[in-house]
Amino acid sequence: MIPLPPLQGLFEERQGEPVPMPPALAALYGELRFPHHAPRPYVIANFVTTLDGVVSLGLPGQSGGGEISGNNPHDRLVMGILRAVADAVVVGAGTLRAVPRHRWTAEYIFPEMAAEYRALRAHLGLAAAPITVIVTAHGELDLSLPVFQGGESPVLVVTTERGAEVLRARPLPPSVEIATVRSGPLVSAREILEAIPPRPSGGLILVEGGPVLLGAFFAERCLDELFLTLAPQVAGRENGLYRPGLIAGRSFAPADPRWGRLVSVKLAGSHLFLRYAWETTA
Ligand SMILES: NC(=O)c1ccc[n+]([C@@H]2O[C@H](COP(=O)([O-])OP(=O)(O)OC[C@H]3O[C@@H](n4cnc5c(N)ncnc54)[C@H](OP(=O)(O)O)[C@@H]3O)[C@@H](O)[C@H]2O)c1
Repeated sequence: MIPLPPLQGLFEERQGEPVPMPPALAALYGELRFPHHAPRPYVIANFVTTLDGVVSLGLPGQSGGGEISGNNPHDRLVMGILRAVADAVVVGAGTLRAVPRHRWTAEYIFPEMAAEYRALRAHLGLAAAPITVIVTAHGELDLSLPVFQGGESPVLVVTTERGAEVLRARPLPPSVEIATVRSGPLVSAREILEAIPPRPSGGLILVEGGPVLLGAFFAERCLDELFLTLAPQVAGRENGLYRPGLIAGRSFAPADPRWGRLVSVKLAGSHLFLRYAWETTA
């Protein structure tokens, strides 16, 4: 057990059954519940932003979530829990390019709790690791990266017909599959969800962004919840430097706003761990 103080619960809406977490995780996080949703999957996202809404510093080698959260251990603990209960983790190609050595497993983000995450997945009857789903329109992915070569988790690349052609021009690593969804310029959130193998219980799909990908889930009202860590720093923005907020490439308000409902508030030091829900049309 690592010397990490528990998250302090400030507000909790209680819906659904508690996830049967191992005692060490439950002691740190508290109760985690998801509303009943079967047979469709429950779709959640997890992001961290600064107080001024920045999710990426947009600087070479410094554009991952770690720079935003200050590598906060509670943020990594929560990311690990959400990955540990997920059937699939969905990531845009831009995020992969920003953190090319990353692996989207619970153990990778918070190795201190690896045994507990493994126990949780086994208890839930889940595979050893969630499927890593990479979304790309163009298909220009570096297949030598650890996520494709490491074999820690199966990888499903969801792409357009053009993207699939680019990808199939090179040998595919054994753990990588391609789902070709349509010939348009982008992949819709619904097509991404349909490409992920279904589970009778509906399962849980975790979207880890980035901002372009998250925009599709909000646009199509395919996101049930956002787990949002608010990190206590102000990053600032200069003209001409790409420092996106949660969503890039789409706007909703004022014509078609997306108002959420607060579900949970937890605290660790000066970091806030928020959880919001939306009505979906799934
Ligand atoms: N703070 C956080 O919590 C957090 C979370 C995630 C990411 N980030 C940061 O956000 C930055 C990346 O931003 P981004 O907006 O470039 O992220 P992104 O959404 O991961 O990447 C955009 C790229 O992903 C592919 N893509 C996304 N949605 C698609 C769709 N609907 N259909 C087809 N392809 C799609 C396209 O790839 P192709 O160009 O290959 O076609 C697109 O150019 C990174 O710095 C990352 O670290 C931060």
